Parts: sequence; C-alpha cells; structure tokens
Amino acid sequence: MCGIVGYIGHRDAYPIIIKGLKRLEYRGYDSAGITLFNAASVVVKTKGKVADLEQIVTPQAKSGKTLGLGHTRWATHGIPSDLNSHPHLSNSGKIAIVHNGIIENYASIKKILTDNGYHFKSDTDTEVLVNLIEYIKTSQKATIGQAVQIALTQVVGAYAIAVVDTDRPGEVVVAKLGSPLAVGIGKDEYFIASDASPFIEYTNRTIYLDDNEMAVISRKKGFKMYSITSDKVLTPKVQEIQLSLETIEKSGFDYFMLKEIHEQPSAITDTFRGRLHVDTQNINISGIEQNKAVFENAQRITIVACGTSWHAGLVAEYLFEDAARIPVEVEYASEFRYRNPVINKGDVVIAISQSGETADTLAAIKLAKEKGAFVFGICNVVGSSIARASDAGAYTHAGPEIGVASTKAFTTQLTVIIMMGLRLGQLKGTIDKHDFDRVAKQLETLPKLIEGVLTCDKQIEKIAREYKDASNFLYLGRGYNFPAALEGALKLKEISYIHAEGYPAAEMKHGPIALIDENMPVVVIATNKGHYEKIVSNVQEIKSRNANIISIVTKGDESVKILSDHVIEIPEVTEALVPILASIPLQLLSYHIAIMRGCNVDQPRNLAKSVTVE
Ligand code: G6P
Repeated sequence: MCGIVGYIGHRDAYPIIIKGLKRLEYRGYDSAGITLFNAASVVVKTKGKVADLEQIVTPQAKSGKTLGLGHTRWATHGIPSDLNSHPHLSNSGKIAIVHNGIIENYASIKKILTDNGYHFKSDTDTEVLVNLIEYIKTSQKATIGQAVQIALTQVVGAYAIAVVDTDRPGEVVVAKLGSPLAVGIGKDEYFIASDASPFIEYTNRTIYLDDNEMAVISRKKGFKMYSITSDKVLTPKVQEIQLSLETIEKSGFDYFMLKEIHEQPSAITDTFRGRLHVDTQNINISGIEQNKAVFENAQRITIVACGTSWHAGLVAEYLFEDAARIPVEVEYASEFRYRNPVINKGDVVIAISQSGETADTLAAIKLAKEKGAFVFGICNVVGSSIARASDAGAYTHAGPEIGVASTKAFTTQLTVIIMMGLRLGQLKGTIDKHDFDRVAKQLETLPKLIEGVLTCDKQIEKIAREYKDASNFLYLGRGYNFPAALEGALKLKEISYIHAEGYPAAEMKHGPIALIDENMPVVVIATNKGHYEKIVSNVQEIKSRNANIISIVTKGDESVKILSDHVIEIPEVTEALVPILASIPLQLLSYHIAIMRGCNVDQPRNLAKSVTVE
C-alpha cells in the first residue's frame, strides 16, 4: 500500500504534493513525508497523517521548490514512526526515495551494504534500497537512472518508486513492479502518483507504467521510458483518463463513506448502462460476448478475491450454480495462490477486485494463467493491474471509492455478477425466459428501490444509538443472505472496531448460539424468499435466549417482525438481488455506530484500501 506523489515542472511543488497525498491517504495513513528541492534539498517527515505533516513544514522549506516527492505510508517493515517514514535518504544525503511495496531480500542486501560501511537509521526495506542505489552509483560511476536500473535487477519484491538525486537536480527516476504508478503529462511539467487522482485538475494525459518499466523524467529531455530488465528504450502509451474532480470530493457529505453509500443508485445505473436490455432480453457484457465459447465450455469456475470482493464472489457462487449450472468455487486469493490448486486448461477463473491492485488477487491470477485458465476480471479501477492482467473482464463503473470500507464497489460488483449469471444461464440454456425477464426487470428498478431504502437512514441512526456500546454483534442470514451477513459484520468491525461475526443462520446452533444472551445484538437478514420458515425458526431460537434482534425483512412481513426488537423493511425482490438491498441498511448501521463511537469511518485504523502487500 502507501501512496506516492511527485512533481517536476514550473509550479510550486509543495501544494500539489500535499493535495495529492491527501487524495491518496486511502492507501495508508500512518505517517507522511515530503522532499522538496531546487539546488538544495529538504526532507520533512512525521508519524501521523498528511495534516500533521503540513503543521511542521516551514514556509522556507516550501517556497520556490518546483521539484518534490511525497509519501503517505501504511507500515510494512518497521512501526509507524518519524524515522521509518518516507522519503528515505541515502547515507550521503544526496539521493531520496519514496516507495510503495516491499523489498523481500532487503536483509541480505543490508548485510552487504553494512559490510561496505553503510549504516541505517530506520527499520525499513526502503532505506536499504536507496543505499543500494547509492552504492551502485558510486562504485560503478553510474548516473542515477543507471544506478536505479541496476539496483532493481538485484531486488526481489514489489515496488513503485520515485527517486531524486541532488547531483541531477532536474531529474526524477520512477520505476514499477507490482505496485501501481501513473505519470501525468502536462506542458513542461510531470506529475507522478500511485493513481491519477492527485493530478486530474492539471492534466488528463496519463502514462501507466507496466511491470518492469522505468522512466527518467527530466526538465531538459522530458519523459524517457526503459525496460528495467533489458535496457530497451520503450515507447510510452499516453491515455486520456476520464476522472472529474467532483467525483473525488465529498460533495457536501461529512464523509466519503456516506457519500458513496448514497451514490449507489447512480453507481448501479452506471454498471448496467448499455449492458442490460430488458426489452430485448439481452445482456451485453463485451468481455463475455467475445469469449462466449470459453464460458459455455467451462467445466467449472473458480473465483478468487479478498475482503468484501470475496463476499461478492460468494453471491456469484450461489447464482452461477443456480442459473447456469456451472460448478463454482470461491477462494481467498491468498490461500489459492499458495496451495497448488487444481486448475486445468479451459477452466475459468474470475478475479474480483475493487482496486484491481490487491497483491494476492494479482498473484492468484498469474498462477491461474500459468495453469492455462482463462481469467476474467471484475474490477472498478480502470486500467488497474488486475484489469490489465486478465484475459477479459467487466468494469463495475462505480466511480472512485475513497472510503476504505467498501460500499458502492460491493453493490456494483453484485450488479455485474447478476448480469453475468443471467447471461451465462441464457448461454447454457439453463434459465427460462420468464425467470430471466423477471430478474432483469427487477435489476433495472434497483436504483429506485435503493433510493427508497436510503430513506430509512433516520430509523437506523436511532437503532445505532441503542447499540453503539455493544462489544459484540452477530449477523445471520441463509442462502444469498449469508454473504450479505458476512459483509454486514465486516463493515461493522472495520469501521467501529466492534467485534462482529457473520454466520449462516442454521450454523448458529453449532457454536455461536453459546454466545447469545441479552448483551449480544443479533442482526438477522430474514427476507421472505429462500428458506423463510427455517429462518423464522432461527429467529425464534435467538429470541428465546434473550438477544436483541435487529431484523431486515421484506415489506409487509409479520412472522419475523413480532419476534424482533427492531425491524428494517426492504422491498420484495428475487433472492439473488436481496444482498444488494440488504447491504444498504447494514452499511448505514455500521456508519452511524462508528460515527457515534468517534471513529474515522473513511480511514479506519490499521486498514488501507489498496492492499499491495501479500
Ligand atoms: C482491503 C479493503 C477492503 C477490500 C479488500 C480487497 O482490505 O479495505 O475494502 O475489500 O482490500 O480489495 P479489492 O480492491 O481487491 O477489492
């Protein structure tokens, strides 16, 4: 994780870098730092957020510097501290680096450098890398660009780096392997960042570096790109990105998370726009249409994902098996990649990822491809590593999600999954016209239905007030509502730090029931489709153990209502669509509880949005 920002041009670098770092804080926010220079360089860094960094940068340090690098950190090697913050300087103080990623063989390199007289102030792998660069530069009389390139051929790990050297004050060297790096091209100015959001108000012309690519950006010679492994000069591909400033600002909401919860009706509309054609009974996802035979012939589908995206994968398992009769397995990417899975040629592997950068999911894709699978990516971030590494895919088009806890990314992933389920069923001839029509029509009305569900906000705020001091929560659901329960519990624990567990309602009697008493609030998703009578019995079992029950039910429900302490009604829809509607009140419940407990819902402790470490 971590976010990096850089600027070289004719403007003051400081405000550009600080603003950019704030936009990248979703990537990590335990410490921040900046280096600015013209003739002489200055480095300021601190444990804490970018706002803390702003407090300690002197007016003198800021003024008149048109080149700089900044960093916002999510600690990997070494605790969050002033010393471990980036930028890191080489022993001579001449070379500064910002780094997103991990250098796995840093210990052996550190030993060699120590034997050669180098000393280290921090516990980080990054300080080892910058000194390796310096060691190569001095011992091989190399330029900074050459030294970076040689150093990178010696390291094992992942990186997006930006490096400056006071011996070459008009140059920045950048390189990428595994972690994302974008360069914005302006007029006689260049912007460097982990994604394009820090520079969208200056330019929409962007180059996304690929793995094993590096570039030397110089005031005199402009942007020159090379292969790290072969020295070859490469021709950069400039993309025009479509990101507006408005979409990455809070638009009057107190938090990004709240804004993103309320954006779900429009985000879902954007997900199915141009793809869902109810009148002609047609779903057109180009990644599927271009690979129809692959899906028709697939003996099975394996889904790999992490976190919230993994929950979306579980919904896909239920739906694809039901509608398309294809066996589906859902795996945590981090388990899949390390366990020698059986994947054969012709298998379809679907990777689900909001960021498109999650290291474990990316590694799982690589493994699947090596084994001959066809990889289909469901990503939100356009041009992300997973999107590029996939054979085909579908973007969710949710727009930037900045709150660390996923909301609209989840419901738009589900929207893609529902469309895929319908289309695969159609291709396999396993869904009848009537069912297809019914689900497709309901899907089209979902944005309106969500707008209705969002009006329960005040009611949920009241419920939140009653339970904000609970230490534990249990979330239960059956069938399609089981993944929704898992996601509800994850949301609560992520942002309010209350321990919460999601469980299949029927499994409760095999353990969790022992925890139930009057101090354990239980959230039950008990809508009227699926095994309704069974879940009514489960609710009865909970009630007779004195728990407080918050239930999410279908409008007009009677049986669960009388057993519940609080009832949130959602409109009646087909089973597969319920997780989308049920997620809305669960997101709001977590949000209000977290706010009442004084938590920063956009930047929960220890978490980051884009997990580029393994
Ligand atoms: C982090 C985020 C989660 C997200 C997970 C997977 O843990 O905090 O919200 O679900 O990563 O991320 P991805 O971008 O692959 O969906």
